[in-house]
Amino acid sequence: MADKDMKQTLVQLARQAAQNAYVPYSRFKVGAAILGERGGIYTGCNVENASLGLTICAERNACTTMVAQGETRIAAVAIYGGGTAGEAAPCGACRQFMLEFADEKLQAPIYLAGADGSVAETSFRELCPYPFRSFTGEPG
Ligand code: THU
Repeated sequence: MADKDMKQTLVQLARQAAQNAYVPYSRFKVGAAILGERGGIYTGCNVENASLGLTICAERNACTTMVAQGETRIAAVAIYGGGTAGEAAPCGACRQFMLEFADEKLQAPIYLAGADGSVAETSFRELCPYPFRSFTGEPG
C-alpha cells in the first residue's frame, strides 16, 4: 500500500476507534491506530474511570494490543482527537510508552488528526528529543 493510502487508512481507523471512547468525565474522545512493522494494525481508544487517575489513554491501549498480538515494532501511528491536529498530540506518558516500541531511527511517521480534517505529521524524534530508551545496569 502506498504511504499516502496507509496514512488515510490509519487516520480513518483512529477516528473509528475514538467512537468507542469511554469518556463520561472529560467527554474528550481519542482514538489511536498503530501500524506494526509486520503489517498488522492495532487500535485503541481512551477509557476513563471514576477513579480518574486510572484512565488509560488511546495510544497506550493501542500499544498494549499490538504487543498482545505479538508485534513489538511500530512503523506508523495515527492519533485522532479534539478539534484540530494539535489537540491530538500524545501526552508525555504515551510518548514514553510508545517510544519503547519505536523504530530504530525514531523516524516512523506519527499522524495527528483533528476532527476538523487537519492532519499534522511528526515523529518520535520530534516528540521525544532526548529519548530515554533502554538501559543496562548492575542490579543494586
Ligand atoms: N488522552 C488520551 O487518550 N491520549 C493522550 O495522549 C492525552 C489524553 C485522554 C485521557 C482522558 O480520557 C482524556 O483524553 C482527557 O484528558
